[in-house]
Amino acid sequence: MVKNIINVRKLSKVFDNSLRAVDGITFDVRQGEIFGFLGPNGAGKTTTIKMLTTLISPTSGDAKIFDFSINKSASAVRASVGVVPQEFTADEDLTAYDNMLLMADLYGVSRTIAKTRIVELLSLVELSNAAKRKVNTYSGGMRRRLELAIGLVNHPKVLFLDEPTLGLDVQTRAAVWTYIEKLKKEYKMTIFMTTHYLDEADSLCDRVAIIDHGKIIKIDTPKNLKDSLGGDIIELKIENERTNVSDLLKKITGVKNVKKNGVEYRLKVKSAETLAPKLITMLTSKGHKVTKLSLSKPTLDEVYLEYTGRSLREEQSNSLDIMSMRRTQRLSRS
Ligand SMILES: Nc1ncnc2c1ncn2[C@@H]1O[C@H](COP(=O)(O)OP(=O)(O)OP(=O)(O)O)[C@@H](O)[C@H]1O
Ligand SMILES: [Mg+2]
Repeated sequence: MVKNIINVRKLSKVFDNSLRAVDGITFDVRQGEIFGFLGPNGAGKTTTIKMLTTLISPTSGDAKIFDFSINKSASAVRASVGVVPQEFTADEDLTAYDNMLLMADLYGVSRTIAKTRIVELLSLVELSNAAKRKVNTYSGGMRRRLELAIGLVNHPKVLFLDEPTLGLDVQTRAAVWTYIEKLKKEYKMTIFMTTHYLDEADSLCDRVAIIDHGKIIKIDTPKNLKDSLGGDIIELKIENERTNVSDLLKKITGVKNVKKNGVEYRLKVKSAETLAPKLITMLTSKGHKVTKLSLSKPTLDEVYLEYTGRSLREEQSNSLDIMSMRRTQRLSRS
């Protein structure tokens, strides 16, 4: 039987008496799943994580983690969750090892246990060799991995990851994915993560919620969300086209929608594999020669666009700009 480990009920956060950053969200997270929280900048993702990890208190509503209410049993919640925040938190002037020791102390983990655990965790994120180096000598990828290790120091049952791979290169992102999957498989951890990378959400998450303007728009498995768009996409081109074939294409059973972008046709169809051969036969019989034909399944990008009216790709580059701007400011201060 599926057991829910996080129950969120009508949770809201209003800032400055007017900004409804999180607006009455209700959902459950199942034991052992990787649950993805997707949404544009300012959608309310970080605010939700901060409430669920008791860093800030809700304006109204409640959430339970292992039956502990975030309103009534904040310290019990804190003891059972780990959090890897969006911003780096490690102390630059300390070594990775000392940063972890400090965090273990904060969580009340005994020194004896902490020492073994830290060695284990630093090895998990492949930082053993750099354990005694100060964090200010670390690369961005090393910092992210250290943050992940820090978030695990109290051996949490539930881990919150806020943009764990933002700004990382492709290789390091893939490495972080591997750790996240390992935590799920080997430690049976429940993972709640936000991300701007839809390919990441698609391959890692068991279920995703799309949030916008503080409200949950959709929750489902990536597969169901993609299927909900109701079809595949076929793109085709015709050699030396003399007449527009849109009307011809629209008449074929299974074709839902035809758009022409320049010389290319873009069709939304029920099933691309079954329809493609029929399309070619029909067009050839009418004297048209197909010079390009490509089939694609909808991606989470398209799902996201459908439900929020925006593309996350632009957002992603904005966030990266902001990150690099912050880094420049930090460097110019020091
Ligand atoms: N302490 C605060 N005081 C006032 N407004 C806040 C505060 N924290 C967040 N907000 C506002 O609440 C809204 C939601 O912010 P939040 O950080 O939760 O968004 P997010 O979904 O995490 O965005 P991003 O993708 O950029 O990380 C934003 O409009 C933000 O400006
Ligand atoms: Mg955020």
